[in-house]
Amino acid sequence: MAITSLKAGIIGTGFIGPVHLEALRRLGVQVGALCDLPDRVRTLADRLGIPQAFGDYRDLLRSPGVDVVHICSPNRLHCPMALAALRAGKHVVCEKPLAMNTRETAEIVKLARQAGTVFAVNYNVRFYPAVLQMRKLVAGGELGEIIHVNGSYLQDWLFKDTDYNWRLLPTEGGKLRAVADIGTHWMDTASFVLGAKIKSVFADLGTFHKTRKRPLGEVQTFARADAKLKYAAYPVKTEDFANVLLEFSNGARGNLGVSQVAAGRKNCIRLEIYGSKKSAGWCSEDPEMLHFGNRDGANETAVRGTPAFGEGATGFMDYPPGHVEGFPDTFKMLFRSIYGCIAAGNRCECAYATAEDGHAEVAVCEAILASHQARKWVKV
Ligand SMILES: NC(=O)c1ccc[n+]([C@@H]2O[C@H](COP(=O)([O-])OP(=O)(O)OC[C@H]3O[C@@H](n4cnc5c(N)ncnc54)[C@H](O)[C@@H]3O)[C@@H](O)[C@H]2O)c1
Repeated sequence: MAITSLKAGIIGTGFIGPVHLEALRRLGVQVGALCDLPDRVRTLADRLGIPQAFGDYRDLLRSPGVDVVHICSPNRLHCPMALAALRAGKHVVCEKPLAMNTRETAEIVKLARQAGTVFAVNYNVRFYPAVLQMRKLVAGGELGEIIHVNGSYLQDWLFKDTDYNWRLLPTEGGKLRAVADIGTHWMDTASFVLGAKIKSVFADLGTFHKTRKRPLGEVQTFARADAKLKYAAYPVKTEDFANVLLEFSNGARGNLGVSQVAAGRKNCIRLEIYGSKKSAGWCSEDPEMLHFGNRDGANETAVRGTPAFGEGATGFMDYPPGHVEGFPDTFKMLFRSIYGCIAAGNRCECAYATAEDGHAEVAVCEAILASHQARKWVKV
């Protein structure tokens, strides 16, 4: 079966839903159905050129014109939507974090195993060519024994006390915010590259804005403050930033910094791996470059697509060197991998994050919160 014969339906069309749509269209996958709030979904579907519009996700799941369901709604809705999609016999691509807590993620894992359809969690950072290459270098022993890893995920879109989004509310996004929203991207990427799970953590969480102002009315992700808006103050129960020490199952140690109040950092994920032979490092602000550090010889920088970059990302690049592939391309490569697996009858070893991986990241989040509260190391 060709992936172009598969039909997708997207639930949630705020910031990330359209990124899914665009990537699917680049692959030739038809997006036949959209679901969002009833008062806006028809207008959105017309604007995006999608034939079917549903104001209730259960109606989208009943549509025979949908093989794969993309869940791009706020975190609170991931679990009920994922379970219903699995029960309807659909393949699922669910946004991260997989759900609000491990009780929910465990339920999804159980049903996904029984269903036998493809279930993927949208940890797209895995599909930067540089990340795939780092993974190959680690697996091939080219960095030597991994001593420690260092990195961060930093943003500034919640820098001001007037910056508002549903993620700030534990009832919508979960008990952790910066860590669950972007920290899990880093943790998933680091585990993927190292081929090792995070087994214990020591965390310190911080909330700079203890009170924030919520605009009266609705605000989209990454929207900027508007002087004409009226605001209501509310206490903040989720963290703005975090520092986490990590221990991986292969013995490597790590430290991770996460922040959504880091002025100037728009969307910066950085991972450095220090091995006993050499180090390798990458940053999403310069996604085409892979940096190598040597103790004695000169340090090196390899450009994506050149022989020095290596072959770890073969099949996951479409453009020649110098023709930058970035954030939107990771979605395209991830979906090509997922849809390829569906077309092959779910019988292949793929690089995308599974329900088990999504469950593992939420379990690390819970350990991070417990560690912060107890001020000690906590096992995952
Ligand atoms: N992988 C990534 O890089 C990435 C980036 C951003 C967001 N995300 C994840 O994607 C999800 C959505 O985030 P976002 O930033 O797009 O949020 P958003 O607020 O911009 O969009 C959410 C959309 O869901 C819709 N929605 C709300 N309730 C609904 C319901 N009951 N039925 C159908 N639609 C409903 C909203 O109307 C809105 O259009 C989150 O889980 C987030 O963590 C992932």
